[in-house]
Amino acid sequence: MTQQEREQAVTDEVVASFAATSDERLREIVQSLTRHLHAFARDVRLSQEEWEAGIAFLTRVGHLTDDKRQEFILLSDVLGLSMLTVGINAPAAPGATESTVFGPFFVESAPEVPLGGDIARGAAGTPCWVSGTVRSTDGSPIAGARIEVWEADEDGFYDVQYEGDRSAGRGRLHSGDDGGYRFWSVRPSSYGIPDDGPVGELLAATGRAPMRPAHLHFKVDAAGHRTLITHIFVAGDPHLDSDAVFGVKESLVVDFAEREPGTAPDGRVLDTPWTSVEFDIVLEALR
Ligand code: BEZ
Ligand code: FE
Repeated sequence: MTQQEREQAVTDEVVASFAATSDERLREIVQSLTRHLHAFARDVRLSQEEWEAGIAFLTRVGHLTDDKRQEFILLSDVLGLSMLTVGINAPAAPGATESTVFGPFFVESAPEVPLGGDIARGAAGTPCWVSGTVRSTDGSPIAGARIEVWEADEDGFYDVQYEGDRSAGRGRLHSGDDGGYRFWSVRPSSYGIPDDGPVGELLAATGRAPMRPAHLHFKVDAAGHRTLITHIFVAGDPHLDSDAVFGVKESLVVDFAEREPGTAPDGRVLDTPWTSVEFDIVLEALR
C-alpha cells in the first residue's frame, strides 16, 4: 500500500462508518464534511503540532462563547462562511433586496417605536432620518411589515457592548398602510468587530484588519414573504472594500446625505447638522 492509499483508506473507512445514518441529509453532511476535512489535512500536510494548535484555538473559541459573546459566529464571519451561506440561500427573485450577514448584535425584544419615532434613545451620533417603502416583488406596497433595525453609535459600539441593560440604537416599527416607513436614528459609524479573543488573534496573525464599514442593520418580516436580513452601508466609507466579514454588496451601499441645520421632513427643527437616507425594501413573495 502506498502512503496515498493508506491516507485514502482512513477517509473511506470514516465515510463508510456514517453509511447507516437514517437521516439522509445528516448522512450527506457528515460524509461530505469528512471528505473535505480530510482533503484539507492532506492538502496542507497537517503536522501533529498544527493539529494541536487548531484544537487549542477552537477550545479558546468555545470557552469565550456564552449568551453574550458568540465567538464561533465571529469565526464563521471572518472565514466568509456566513456570507457564503447567505449567498447559497439568497432569494432567487430578481428585484428583491439583497441579504447580508446577520452579525451577533441583534436583540429579540427591541423597543417598539411609532412611525417617525426615534430609535437612538441616547445612542451618541449625528441625527439621521431614515425612510423608504416596503414592497413585494410584484410591486405592491406591504402594510404592517415588521422592521427591526440596529446599529453602532458614533464610537463604534452597540448598546449590548456597554455595561448595564440600556437599549439604544435599536428598535422595531411597522410599515404604514402605503408600505412607507420612517424613523430617526444616528448616522452609523464604522467599527472594529470584537478582536480581543482568538478570532482577533487570527486576524492579527494574518495581517487582516477587524474593521467593518458603517452600516445600519435591518430585519424585515411580512406575511407571505421571505424574511430579509440585510444592512445598508454608508457610501464613501473607507472600509467598503475591506469589510472584515465580507458583507458588502453594491446594491446595499447608499448615500447618506449631509444636511444643514434646519427643518427635517417631519417638521423637527435641528440646530445642528443632520443626515438623511432613503432605502426602499423589496421582499420576495413566497409562492
Ligand atoms: C455586525 O455587523 O454587527 C457584525 C457582523 C459580523 C461580525 C461582527 C459584527
Ligand atoms: Fe453591525
